[in-house]
Amino acid sequence: MQIISPIKKAFSTMLAGPVFDAAKQSAIIPIRHMKFEFKPEKIDPKFYMNAELASAYFASLSIFLTFGEDLVIDTARYHRDFVTDPLLKQRVTSLIGQEALHSKLHEEMNDAYMEIDLPVKLFRTWAGWVFTYGFNRLSQPMKLSLMAGIEHFTAVLAEYMMNHEQIFFDSQDEKQRAIWMWHMLEESEHKDIAYDVFQNLSNNYALRAAGFFPALITILVLISAASLLVPFYRKPSNLISWSYWKDVPRSFQLIFGLKDGVYGSSLKHIFDYLRPSFHPNDYDTSAFLDYYKERLLYPETGVLTPYFVKEFIPALKV
Ligand SMILES: [Fe+2]
Ligand SMILES: [Fe+2]
Repeated sequence: MQIISPIKKAFSTMLAGPVFDAAKQSAIIPIRHMKFEFKPEKIDPKFYMNAELASAYFASLSIFLTFGEDLVIDTARYHRDFVTDPLLKQRVTSLIGQEALHSKLHEEMNDAYMEIDLPVKLFRTWAGWVFTYGFNRLSQPMKLSLMAGIEHFTAVLAEYMMNHEQIFFDSQDEKQRAIWMWHMLEESEHKDIAYDVFQNLSNNYALRAAGFFPALITILVLISAASLLVPFYRKPSNLISWSYWKDVPRSFQLIFGLKDGVYGSSLKHIFDYLRPSFHPNDYDTSAFLDYYKERLLYPETGVLTPYFVKEFIPALKV
């Protein structure tokens, strides 16, 4: 025991990530209210690069992610009480506000997906099982780790999307474009908050790594597997449609292709999370954020301007 303890201590010191540094936090972020009012008849089921299966992945992600966001909101609310740094506390409030609006507005889009025969009810049932019998039963420290893991994946996704802006403009569906661009901007904006809370309250490497894997399996495996069903559920004739099957390899490339696919080309970024000294801000997206804020929110010309209602900055309580 006397021998094991110093070894264990040396290991945990070696693996401890960057200590939360209050002075290094990013700027305060606003909670932006949007109003999209989705119309089912205007929803493009091939929004993502005119590829039915790749678009089905994003539709499935939209359905499942509201459950993940609800977990992030509950977990952030619980742990906010233990955060003493006023700026981090305020940033957690912004994270909660942004995620609450993502969840609400994605649910509105999911309701529109339901009208065009996507398996929204079925996926909500499945996601409900995963969360009710799985993730929601985890201990609070593990939920905090899972929250940081989920936020890592949304940060990876956001960086990829911001780096491939043309993806959003392939379809004429302006509202799907707007909701995804708004969501990706904010995921990148708040990408370090969950991680900083985790490092601030826990800084346990093994626990952080433990939260990465369920996020990885859910986002890359479960949601991908579920999305295979979508094209047939929406349009059973796809089962025997040559044009559908012919396009399936392209969809795989778009998501998993090592050269240019969403996750395939981001593998290094994805697994870098397991580096003990990893911090989300090792990936500098500040230039993207400046560009996108202008592109999305500039008066009259911004992509989001027609849907923007108001923004709110939570009070800093010192
Ligand atoms: Fe979100
Ligand atoms: Fe997020």
